[in-house]
Amino acid sequence: MAENPAYPVGLRLTGRRVVVLGGGQVAQRRLPALIAAGADIHLVSPEATPSVEAMADAGEITWTKRPYEDGDLADAWYALIATSDRQANTDASAEAERHRVWCVRSDDADAATAWTPATGHSEGVTVAVLTTNAKGRDPRHTAAIRDAVVEGLRDGTLVAPHHRTRTPGVALVGGGPGDPDLITVRGRRLLAEADVVIADRLGPRDLLAELPPHVEVIDAAKIPYGRYMAQEAINNALIEHAKQGKSVVRLKGGDPFVFGRGMEEAQALAEAGIACTVVPGISSSISVPGAAGIPVTHRGVAHEFTVVSGHVAPDDERSLVDWPALARLRGTLVVLMGVDKIGRIAETLIAHGKPADTPVALVQEGTTAAQRRVDATLATVAETVRTEDVKPPAVIVIGEVVNVGVHSPLNASE
Ligand SMILES: C[S@@+](CC[C@H](N)C(=O)[O-])C[C@H]1O[C@@H](n2cnc3c(N)ncnc32)[C@H](O)[C@@H]1O
Repeated sequence: MAENPAYPVGLRLTGRRVVVLGGGQVAQRRLPALIAAGADIHLVSPEATPSVEAMADAGEITWTKRPYEDGDLADAWYALIATSDRQANTDASAEAERHRVWCVRSDDADAATAWTPATGHSEGVTVAVLTTNAKGRDPRHTAAIRDAVVEGLRDGTLVAPHHRTRTPGVALVGGGPGDPDLITVRGRRLLAEADVVIADRLGPRDLLAELPPHVEVIDAAKIPYGRYMAQEAINNALIEHAKQGKSVVRLKGGDPFVFGRGMEEAQALAEAGIACTVVPGISSSISVPGAAGIPVTHRGVAHEFTVVSGHVAPDDERSLVDWPALARLRGTLVVLMGVDKIGRIAETLIAHGKPADTPVALVQEGTTAAQRRVDATLATVAETVRTEDVKPPAVIVIGEVVNVGVHSPLNASE
């Protein structure tokens, strides 16, 4: 006879008594979701794993330290039967049947009256995957389907537009340093839902190629010393598209607020009365050195790191950087936008007391397939940039951290 399919349902357990028999690995895996559901959880077990014990110590569950006894399931709405004693499990599921308590059994899915689906969450949705009947039960298969759906929703490869919650407006999304895998999950999802994307030259350009054809991609073209679109024009484009009711993503390199003019855009949007969401990104100032094997701090070597813009020379009256003070610091200096001015920067640091043999590393196009690292010292860096033809974008790291760690690239794009 064909077996009927299981009937899927979402239990609302807030404040309702749930009995868990057995405090081993199964309980440890299942308890967090029951706690999150707000259930009034009673664990009956002579022993428990340290994690389960910690849940009892924290008051998240009530623990009765003894084996299962008949009557334990009397007032429960739901039971998880997972002791190591098969006879106790059988007796408990018979009691659950008598009291009409839905129960899952870790040792015998056939004898259970309920099954735990493979679950995952993404943006206000719970994805729960069950096999249709006992014969087809294959927990790895259901978990794989769950993972595929949740991952797809998170990274935007499975596009499910939010018809109720999606609001027009602008998202300022930090795209990370360049490797398309280094954008946040939220950023990737917003990108997948966008009608218009206004992108910088830096950041995860490869992701733009994946966008569906109806998405309008605008190049903000903020190329250093080259042709560029004025910031005001970018602000206006953001405002215009948002006013047309479109979902606009302003995709920026690294983090929007690290030399990214993100706040100027947020302010312009606020003045125009346009809703704005900011999604942080992985800044090149930390991730690019890291990708080249340089930690910006290291125990016993550097207890601080300072991120500086080198886009104007130290003697330029527009400079807001206190270079003499930086020369006195012992920690790491990370210079962004500094390739063109590194000669003047190095001279100034040396003139104010930084040793000329301080190690320097330049990491060009970090986290991309073109990543390369060039090492020098403060005394030699200007010449090295010329002879090695180092070009922007590059992150320059100055300090002893350059000489710790590993010299082969870490996590570079394949
Ligand atoms: C206008 S700033 C933007 C920084 C960005 N908001 C961030 O948090 O990484 C541009 C500078 O960031 C650095 N940069 C950004 N991405 C880089 C990468 N993949 N490799 C090397 N340097 C990078 C370079 O110094 C470049 O000149």
